[in-house]
Amino acid sequence: MSVADLPKIELHMHIEGAMPPAFARGLAQEKKIDISGIFAGDGSYRYRDFRDFLRVYEAATQVLQTPQDYYRLTRAVLEESAASNVVYTESFLAPDFCGGGDVTAWRDYLGAIEQAAAEMEREAGIVMRAIPTAVRHFGPEQAKRTARCAQETAGRFVTGFGMGGDEAMGRQGDFAYAFDMAREAGLRLTSHAGEWGGPESVREAIRDLRVARIGHGVRAIEDPALVEEIAEAGIVLEVCPGSNVALGVCRSLARHPIADLRRRGVKVTVSTDDPPFFHSTMRREFNDLSEVFGWEAGDFDALNETALEAAFCDDATREAVAKKLERDDA
Ligand code: ADE
Ligand code: ZN
Repeated sequence: MSVADLPKIELHMHIEGAMPPAFARGLAQEKKIDISGIFAGDGSYRYRDFRDFLRVYEAATQVLQTPQDYYRLTRAVLEESAASNVVYTESFLAPDFCGGGDVTAWRDYLGAIEQAAAEMEREAGIVMRAIPTAVRHFGPEQAKRTARCAQETAGRFVTGFGMGGDEAMGRQGDFAYAFDMAREAGLRLTSHAGEWGGPESVREAIRDLRVARIGHGVRAIEDPALVEEIAEAGIVLEVCPGSNVALGVCRSLARHPIADLRRRGVKVTVSTDDPPFFHSTMRREFNDLSEVFGWEAGDFDALNETALEAAFCDDATREAVAKKLERDDA
């Protein structure tokens, strides 16, 4: 068996960012919206750099206008994940794109997404949990509205709260109120840091937002004392190697710090972030890590184990997913 065929746990994937370009074009045509400018000649998404990526990403989300659109999107995305043998996935959902941050609208969108997830669990065996996510460059006030959406729907399906977007907007601590709201609702926390921001952004996310996981966090490698602190505290990094290479955070996979972080005792996991934007799949992430770092099945088993421990789900779900990871030859 190739490592690419192994079962996988994914903790960091944005549902809008996982929208296949052909799906976006189809919806655009149905709704008569012109988004032709965001595609390259081969039909893939086209962007120049991170800022431009965020612009293209948000342009693509314009086609997602109803709960039914998200129902179809969720099915399409989970089908793709299941094809990579992902057995458990946590997906970031932005209430800003699902009803503009309004709680009533968000409930309708979330209902459609949860229905699609339940169907895909029955049909393909993939388990999904949702992490409502603030968009950082929309600012701290909007993040509070997002946290309210998350609070109101916290439960078996909505298990976490997160923040993505442009790290250049303010500081992590500016969003502490929203994260406090989510924590009080019993939600587990993660924030994008140390992707474009330096090691101090990772420190701030841990200190000011009290997150259990960091989205990316790879620039922690620039500060050896921080790496040690993260390892000791058991903070989990949601590392997305293909994303980091495609967006230019790292020059190549060979120069990516994931193996070094792991060697130094940091709990690392592997995810795709926004797969079609980066020509990535979980299958490809596993395959590339195996080729470049020589990781074998046992290494990927350990990654899955770390990810399952760090998953924002209840223990009954964790046990059910653990069974899906069991292999006859393990
Ligand atoms: N939203 C979707 N993908 C993102 C990324 N890589 N960084 C920050 N925000 C994002
Ligand atoms: Zn992300």
